[in-house]
Amino acid sequence: MTITFAEKLARMPGYQAGVPTGQAPEAIASGNIAQLASNESPFPPHPKVVEAIQQTAAAMNRYPDPDATLLRRRLAERYETEPSRVAVGNGSCEILLAAAEALCEPGAEIVYAWPAFSMYPYLPALTGAREVRVPLAEGDVHDLDAMAEEVTAATQLLIVCNPNNPTATHIPAAEIAAFLERIPTHVTVILDEAYVEFQTHDDPDATLDLLADFPNLVVLRTFSKCYGLAGLRTGYAIGPPKFRAAVDAVRQPFSVNALAQAAGAEAIRHQDDVLRRVESTIAARLTVEEGLQGLGLATSDSHANFSWVDLGDADEAAVLAGLAEREIAVRPGKALGGPGHIRVSYGTAEENERFLRGLSEILD
Ligand SMILES: Cc1ncc(COP(=O)(O)O)c(C=O)c1O
Repeated sequence: MTITFAEKLARMPGYQAGVPTGQAPEAIASGNIAQLASNESPFPPHPKVVEAIQQTAAAMNRYPDPDATLLRRRLAERYETEPSRVAVGNGSCEILLAAAEALCEPGAEIVYAWPAFSMYPYLPALTGAREVRVPLAEGDVHDLDAMAEEVTAATQLLIVCNPNNPTATHIPAAEIAAFLERIPTHVTVILDEAYVEFQTHDDPDATLDLLADFPNLVVLRTFSKCYGLAGLRTGYAIGPPKFRAAVDAVRQPFSVNALAQAAGAEAIRHQDDVLRRVESTIAARLTVEEGLQGLGLATSDSHANFSWVDLGDADEAAVLAGLAEREIAVRPGKALGGPGHIRVSYGTAEENERFLRGLSEILD
């Protein structure tokens, strides 16, 4: 007899980390690798956030608050809502997984665009729901019309990634509102806004106003990107109280650790810092996109902290190998559903310069 695993294991897509195995963690610590593969912030957290983490560290003999009371209260204050509408998770990924667990079972359908965030295929794989992938439209944007047409009585979950990972494109809030009008209320719509702070179409809070009109809407955000807290794993969702209760019901009680709770509760108070980070990201975006254009490479219209680069006639594998030789980590388009592309996150000014120089040498 040998052990056997659940059938769903064979369906799991598997996750490829941004920095190739073997290079972590010593090479990363040495600072030689330009880490432009995971859409992180190149800047450390706000000093007050580091201080909050340090203070909390002394009480690690205790379990964290299972209700994340302070963090949820501060988020509710920031977004002028009730804590009962705020779910928190061990990264927003955990909220996605918990949402699927709570909403879907075999026979259900999950609709999302493709290419989009590489975690979405985990949701049908885990729950046995049927996945409906809707190809992006011209310009690498979500095809909202086609997505609305895919909705059936069996659709339990529909995800819109906005700005979209990996293509960085963004759909303005007014179009999202018109789309939501077309979606029946039995469908939970998760608006995954991991990069929303970096977009320049709308006030980043514009979509939160939609929560009052659409009781089936959940807005998902994270501290991993513009707050510079990817290492701690904290994300949050704002939606109906019963969504929060459902997410909490299906996962372990202490999933957001005490350091993450303290860090998030402090970070959300420093919106001036968020603005500074956004400004520097937009400056980096201009530099990188101008540099790429100078090399004759086209990119999608970026509203995020990364660019989706069409390599044209250049060979993706050769470009990746050349960048790896120069210790520059980016994401292969092939693994993200877009062969012939790379996804490059913006780093420090020096890293961006290094990336452009390296790419120029490779293409020569
Ligand atoms: C679109 C999108 N959503 C969610 C996440 C997950 O973020 P986290 O689990 O770190 O909050 C990511 C991370 O890359 C992302 O790109």
